[in-house]
Amino acid sequence: MENVRTAGFTPETPLILGMMRLHDHPELTRPDNLANWIAARLDEGLNLFDHADIYGGGECERLFGNALKTHPLLREKVRVITKAGIVPANQDRSPWQVKHYQAEAGYLESAIDRALVSLSIEQIDTFLIHRPDPLMQADDVARALEKAVSAGKVRQIGVSNFLPEQWRWLAGNTGLPLVCNQSQLSLAHTAPLFDGTLEAHLTDGLRWLAWSPLGGGNLAARIPTDILDRALAETGLDETGLAVAWLRQLPGTPVPVLGSMSPDRIRSALHGAQSLLPRPLWYRLLESVRNQAVA
Ligand SMILES: NC(=O)c1ccc[n+]([C@@H]2O[C@H](COP(=O)([O-])OP(=O)(O)OC[C@H]3O[C@@H](n4cnc5c(N)ncnc54)[C@H](OP(=O)(O)O)[C@@H]3O)[C@@H](O)[C@H]2O)c1
Repeated sequence: MENVRTAGFTPETPLILGMMRLHDHPELTRPDNLANWIAARLDEGLNLFDHADIYGGGECERLFGNALKTHPLLREKVRVITKAGIVPANQDRSPWQVKHYQAEAGYLESAIDRALVSLSIEQIDTFLIHRPDPLMQADDVARALEKAVSAGKVRQIGVSNFLPEQWRWLAGNTGLPLVCNQSQLSLAHTAPLFDGTLEAHLTDGLRWLAWSPLGGGNLAARIPTDILDRALAETGLDETGLAVAWLRQLPGTPVPVLGSMSPDRIRSALHGAQSLLPRPLWYRLLESVRNQAVA
């Protein structure tokens, strides 16, 4: 396969593999099994894996890192996105035990160092601030991220769940480009298509990395059976392929961050990523999940 290390988020990047549910798959907790699973994805042309320090309470990054340690050749081929900035209540060391955000320079610097160790990699391909933090001092955070990039710990930076004015506040404090915003978008979550959020990504050049592209598994239940059956028959796709095709048809070609680790569902998603839906069908699906026609 071509040079996977240097590829960016090209318009053709079909999918990112989300690792939030990795710890739910007992068979993949063995390093050899997970390494084989990763190698199979690389053979399919998928080399981008999405993590966060909080997934599985830290277990997901560690399992992935153990697989790379056991099979170091994979390290050259995988690219890793990871995120930090959310502190769950059970990890708050203060007496308050409160879930909070910590997009704060020193915290993010330590989080980057921790992620490199857990994941057993030398560079995080794309580091994201997980959630907008109202207490964020954008200038300090920008300096910390710039330092991580200059040190080679992080290749590029982005944000997650940010609204346009929130990412502009950070972007205005750094010369580094914000390459992406990882945010919820799918047939189960269409509001950002109607309030200018999609267009803000395009104007500012942030690639939309769409989390929960299958609605966390609840999508089919939201589409009336007769419409779904007709759509599947007309396109030759299954539900997964249909959801991915629908998403990728949007301007800027959002990249689905797929949560399924099932090889069959991943193959269906890849099939969907290569498919184009007729415009009336695209709108029929939108109408059915919103329960209303466009005005
Ligand atoms: N930045 C953020 O704040 C944020 C938030 C949430 C998630 N994420 C990222 O996004 C990734 C994807 O999130 P997600 O897992 O919610 O996405 P998803 O791809 O929408 O959902 C995947 C889940 O749905 C199940 N599923 C899909 N289709 C199904 C069907 N037809 N029948 C039954 N089950 C079905 C999958 O089960 P199977 O495993 O059986 O296929 C899996 O458990 C995460 O791994 C994470 O990397 C980011």
